[in-house]
Amino acid sequence: MSGARWRETGGALLALLLLGAGTLLVALLLRTYTLPSNQVTWQGEGAAGGELTPEEKQRLREALAGAIRIPTVSFSEEEQNVTALAEFGGYIRKVFPGVFSSSIVKHEVVAEYSHLFSVQGSDRSLRPYMMLAHLDVVPAPPEGWDVPPFSGEERDGYIYGRGALDDKSCVIGVLQALELLLKRGYHPKRSFYIGLGHDEEVSGHKGAMKIVQILQSRGVKLLFVVDEGLAVLDGVIQGIKRPVALIGTTEKGSITLNLTVNQPPGHSSMPPAETSIGILAAAVSRLERNPMPNMFGEGPEASMFEQLAGEFVFPLNVMMANLWLFSPIISRFTEKSTPLSKAVQPSAGFAQKSPCHAPPLAPIGVLERTPSSNALVRTTTAVTILNAGVKSNVIPRMARATVNFRLHPAQTVQEALDIVQNTINDARVEISVLNSFDPLPISPYDESNFGYQTLQRTIHSVFSAAPVAPGVCIGNTDSRHFVNLTDSIYRFSPFTLKAEDLSRIHGLNERISLDGLQRLTQFYYQLIRNADSDKVPVAHRATHEL
Ligand SMILES: *[C@@H]1O[C@H](CO)[C@@H](O)[C@H](O)[C@H]1NC(C)=O
Ligand SMILES: *[C@@H]1O[C@H](CO)[C@@H](O)[C@H](O)[C@H]1NC(C)=O
Ligand SMILES: *[C@@H]1O[C@H](CO)[C@@H](O)[C@H](O)[C@H]1NC(C)=O
Ligand SMILES: [Zn+2]
Repeated sequence: MSGARWRETGGALLALLLLGAGTLLVALLLRTYTLPSNQVTWQGEGAAGGELTPEEKQRLREALAGAIRIPTVSFSEEEQNVTALAEFGGYIRKVFPGVFSSSIVKHEVVAEYSHLFSVQGSDRSLRPYMMLAHLDVVPAPPEGWDVPPFSGEERDGYIYGRGALDDKSCVIGVLQALELLLKRGYHPKRSFYIGLGHDEEVSGHKGAMKIVQILQSRGVKLLFVVDEGLAVLDGVIQGIKRPVALIGTTEKGSITLNLTVNQPPGHSSMPPAETSIGILAAAVSRLERNPMPNMFGEGPEASMFEQLAGEFVFPLNVMMANLWLFSPIISRFTEKSTPLSKAVQPSAGFAQKSPCHAPPLAPIGVLERTPSSNALVRTTTAVTILNAGVKSNVIPRMARATVNFRLHPAQTVQEALDIVQNTINDARVEISVLNSFDPLPISPYDESNFGYQTLQRTIHSVFSAAPVAPGVCIGNTDSRHFVNLTDSIYRFSPFTLKAEDLSRIHGLNERISLDGLQRLTQFYYQLIRNADSDKVPVAHRATHEL
């Protein structure tokens, strides 16, 4: 080919490329700025009637402080402070006399310490719904706290103490909301239940499960369930400036395995080539070096980014709106010093072990890079116990490790077990499943879903129209026991969390602001009123502006 032809062809090719790139760019931008936003608003809706008088505000803060002072600690599934749990039952009777004396509220104690309230609506043709919270808390050794963890002390506008966020604020808030509605003569149209479990932190096998059995035996089907979970996040997802509300529409599953290796024991003076410890160590090492597959985009986590795309700063908004193109980059980008990784790196404060509120959220980003966001894109592998040997000159017969996996919503227990087997790939390592459950089904979050839309409407009216999106809970809640009663389970704690608050849950200096506690109560108050509608709420669509 002559030089001229080359230039000609090259020129044409370049033009074509430019045209292609230009078209792509236009397509990306178009999608970014016209993506039918799922963000809707209910403009002009205030907290109608949910405002508290100064005396009511005072009683509310005292109610929470008093609840914190009863140390309803769950140490393990076998060990709970049952004295405190029993005391709590008496406490709520005293603090919410209206709830306990109302003719439309039936109260039952379940499994000795849990509580079930059935509120009779006036229209029996409407399907009931349910709100959940739990009474128990994780332990809180006093070291490191600014105030004693079971004091309920108030400082600078915050109530401090174990349970201030997880989950006594919700217990008190939901009962207070009902108390206020009853006091103001409100008679709900739609029936509903309030379930307060007493062993959520250690499984919910006694409380929540028993409540489910009772409802099931009565033939109850629920329109939707609201439990603790995600929250309104302010500055947690970097790259998003406004507070955004995430509603957990699923929870990860879990598998706990024991890996056991048995080999002939012997004296350390004549060791065999391979020992039980060495074989086990190699197997554990293979599991750690071969993480489960990155499944970003195969579960509901991608919807979250897409629905929030318009909230991200440029160029993240373009990437989030075009996950069909960018998801591999977003999920796998692992370089340390790129602007992208900086922009989307989750804020500090994730080093904690919270089960239900765990930063499902900080997702973002360079998703594989940080433990919290890594947890969003794959089944995680954590070696938690290792046991072998008792004497320095004896080769032990047995070596054993316990491994806990948290399953990505798009993976089943069986699929994960198959991968584990293939990864370990050593018949001498015996694998036994201690317990397991699949990821929870994904609850619907479309425009025709009553529960989701009612939650969204309530969030907008109470949290200044914060954008709402579905999310994944990387820990578990009591609501997972309710799957046979409804397909619509939503995990949302009605308070705002800033990045620094995340480590307070199950950590030091757990606290809630007085304003946050009032809002939380208004949320339940509004939710009960909004759920009385017999139609799915319809909102105005928000539009992005270029
Ligand atoms: C259990 O709760 C009671 C109060 O109900 C309290 O006096 C006691 O110290 C608690 N025990 C533990 C081990 O926390
Ligand atoms: C699993 O392994 C752990 C740690 O070695 C041990 O404490 C536990 O008893 C084992 N459980 C079973 C059922 O083997
Ligand atoms: C739901 O029902 C199925 C079938 O009856 C049962 O196997 C399962 O254990 C139930 N799940 C829960 C969480 O109750
Ligand atoms: Zn909780």
